[in-house]
Amino acid sequence: MSDTSEAKPANAQSRRSAEWFARAGKYGFIPRSWMKSQGFSPEMFDGRPVIGICNTWSELTNCNRHLRDLAEHVKRGVLMAGGFPLEFPVTSLGEPLMRPTTMMFRNLVAMDVEETIRANPIDGVVLLAGCDKTTPALLMGAASCDVPSILVSGGPMLNGRYRGRELGSGTDVFKLDEDYRTGKISKADVEAAEAAMSRSAGSCMTMGTASTMALLTEAMGIGLPMNGTIPAPDSRRAVLAEQAGKRAVQLVLQDIRISAILTRAAFENAVKVAGAIGGSTNAVVHLLALAGRLGVPFTLNDWDVLGRDVPCLVDLKPSGRFLMEEFFDAGGLPVVMRRISDRLNLDAPAIEGGTIGERVAEAESWNDEVIRTVDNPLTPRGGLVVLRGNLAPDGAILKPSAASPTLMQHRGKAIVFKDADDFRARIDDPDLDVDADSVLVLQNAGPVGYPGMPEVGSMALPKKLLAQGVTDMVRVSDARMSGTAFGTVVLHVAPEAALGGPLALVRTGDIIILDTEARRIDVDLSADEFERRRQAFVPPKPAYDRGYGKLFLDHVQQADKGVDFDFLVGGSGTPPSKVSF
Ligand code: FES
Ligand code: MG
Repeated sequence: MSDTSEAKPANAQSRRSAEWFARAGKYGFIPRSWMKSQGFSPEMFDGRPVIGICNTWSELTNCNRHLRDLAEHVKRGVLMAGGFPLEFPVTSLGEPLMRPTTMMFRNLVAMDVEETIRANPIDGVVLLAGCDKTTPALLMGAASCDVPSILVSGGPMLNGRYRGRELGSGTDVFKLDEDYRTGKISKADVEAAEAAMSRSAGSCMTMGTASTMALLTEAMGIGLPMNGTIPAPDSRRAVLAEQAGKRAVQLVLQDIRISAILTRAAFENAVKVAGAIGGSTNAVVHLLALAGRLGVPFTLNDWDVLGRDVPCLVDLKPSGRFLMEEFFDAGGLPVVMRRISDRLNLDAPAIEGGTIGERVAEAESWNDEVIRTVDNPLTPRGGLVVLRGNLAPDGAILKPSAASPTLMQHRGKAIVFKDADDFRARIDDPDLDVDADSVLVLQNAGPVGYPGMPEVGSMALPKKLLAQGVTDMVRVSDARMSGTAFGTVVLHVAPEAALGGPLALVRTGDIIILDTEARRIDVDLSADEFERRRQAFVPPKPAYDRGYGKLFLDHVQQADKGVDFDFLVGGSGTPPSKVSF
């Protein structure tokens, strides 16, 4: 038997797992005996740190389907450092399948994670995530427990390759769909492209929400260097997983909790990095919700103020040309962070020990086309714009790097769709009175309205305008949009239409004014007319009257608060619990 004394520090008895495994009598016998049925040696129960490996593996989440394998590498690292790894599943969330939208279940998974950690003999966690919502859900759950935590992303898929060109997840679907709808390509072409786009395990290899959240995990220091970019099938991803397992044990031994890493400084860095990578707009709601769990003061306005004028350096689809494999080869996020280091909190802590500044100080770029320099950015202003006005008193957002400069100051006639079904039914109607200057307005697609705030905000343009060569129009909604989408799209309007927000009062023919310079989105209506319409507002019938759907409707907060449940804000640590037998 090997000597395990190294793994037994003086404070072993004060660890959570000791409550279960170090007890005398039946309270120790039962947890140890039943766990031994899995074939664990006695020294696993000697007080070494128990590392939970929180896994979102699922065949219903293709992006995370390799996480069972990756967990084995985490375990190796945990064992190497003298810890006791125990893998457990939590509900997984796969973007392509779940209805009405994965966003409706992010908080459910966060509850699953939080309660599973708290109820079990877990001292620290390695969080295995990939597809969009799995990353924020796991971080939120761990944050409310405030245990030592490290996140390992599944990594991006290999680049899509199709007939001599590259296909980007999501982004190229929108283009292929437009080409098919306008008769430029055949059904057989579409089928071939389908198979060519998704070639391996891993998350979307564009700058979608999954890539964004994996990169921000790295930027905030709660993931290891290169966590965001190593491709899913690359052996270096397995090495990173092993290192994370090892580090998790040390985090427990040193009692470095998630709240020690995810500080205000980390959130500030995340906003700036989100601008520099041209990150998904979905990061806004996820980071707001995460900060809420940690009690970190962080608001929607921070997105605008901190992100203002951060140049977008990463030339990735949907804003640019390349895909995640090229970004990884070019040096990954440390290069980006080094290039904007004068804007970052370099003393923010990094999960491997030391600071973010130390992590990125030596980063070298191997391709300045993929990772541009500050003097030659993809777009000079990569940050998000937070808009307010009589149409969005509590805020709305717009991503300038995905928008058309010519539409950022715009005035146009509203074409209003009362919900996503109404939009789908009428958008391609040849008689729809719409032109390139019109503003498409979608109501009832917010957290309560849809429900779940789906990614329908980047409404497809009317077929007849596409045929005329129109490529962008101003669109306004209380929905989100996919990180892989693009256009001059005003999103996350709060309060939402279903709650009687001003968006609900807009009618076809009203004039909408988008003034990005002044950070405003307004509808040209007199206060009297607004009030008249407000009196006549009838809220839509709730979508659920029981079950999780009802819980969601009763407790979900608006986009400017991160769409978390009101009763989940904050944390409750891991106080000792009662035994049940
Ligand atoms: Fe899972 Fe894009 S669908 S990451
Ligand atoms: Mg997505």
